Amino acid sequence: MTSENARFAFGENWRKFLPLVDEPRIRAAERSLCEMLEVPDLTGKTALDVGCGSGLFSLAARRLGARVRSFDRDQVSVDCTLALRRQHFPDDDAWQVEQGSVLDAGFVARLGQYDVVYAWGVLHHTGAMWQAFENTVQTVRPGGRLFVAIYNDQGRVSDLWRVVKRAYCSGTAGKVAVSSVFMPYFAVGCFVMDLARLRNPLRRYRDRDDERGMAVFRDWVDWLGGYPFEVAKPEKVLAYHRKHGFRLDRLTTRHSGCNEFVFTLSHAATRG
Ligand SMILES: C[S@@+](CC[C@H](N)C(=O)[O-])C[C@H]1O[C@@H](n2cnc3c(N)ncnc32)[C@H](O)[C@@H]1O
Repeated sequence: MTSENARFAFGENWRKFLPLVDEPRIRAAERSLCEMLEVPDLTGKTALDVGCGSGLFSLAARRLGARVRSFDRDQVSVDCTLALRRQHFPDDDAWQVEQGSVLDAGFVARLGQYDVVYAWGVLHHTGAMWQAFENTVQTVRPGGRLFVAIYNDQGRVSDLWRVVKRAYCSGTAGKVAVSSVFMPYFAVGCFVMDLARLRNPLRRYRDRDDERGMAVFRDWVDWLGGYPFEVAKPEKVLAYHRKHGFRLDRLTTRHSGCNEFVFTLSHAATRG
């Protein structure tokens, strides 16, 4: 595989996460939506889940009362989301799931506009992040909210991670080499950090309600493989959205990992 077409199989990782989706994880996902959006529920709202992955956040939004539309570029992610829908909302016409790319302007235009648009950890994995932003902002209705999470730009450190991720996605040898270096590194790093904080080191593997309902090992795989990989400084994301008529409601910054932004689109915003 050449580095130009190297791409992480996100759906395969989500397929392995799916059996772990239980009530505490679903509740954690619901809590993360309500806390960041500062709402008790989503009753009467429409929600678009851009790059839905496992489908956990579509499920959470649906349980919170929204009419949901979910899509992902990766058919295996779409299948995971369909499986969650079958399990929790069989024959539900208020939850649509389909395959599609946020980079496909025609597809995105046909989706229409939503009260809540959720694009967590997606746009930086498309290979054309700013084009993905350009298409995503079109799906927010005036007065609607956009919840987006984007990897922080750590300069050289981000450049190094890009090399690691590209190597992971270059074929079996790259995947084995990267995993055998970094999995023990993560495990030992977490062990030492937990001991220093007087925390039980096994807790992070047992806890089913981390802040978004994710699973530690699946997160590590997603992190090592997540390629294409782009990053942005929070001020750049802010400036872009201000220019497009959005107001920042909430921001959570992280040195390493994703910065989370919740914006509201001005009622006066005009769309092209
Ligand atoms: C890190 S996962 C995040 C999944 C989910 N949003 C979540 O928060 O758990 C990134 C997802 O974006 C999807 N993705 C990547 N490029 C995409 C594109 N061009 N259009 C739609 N989805 C895309 C991947 O297939 C993957 O499921």
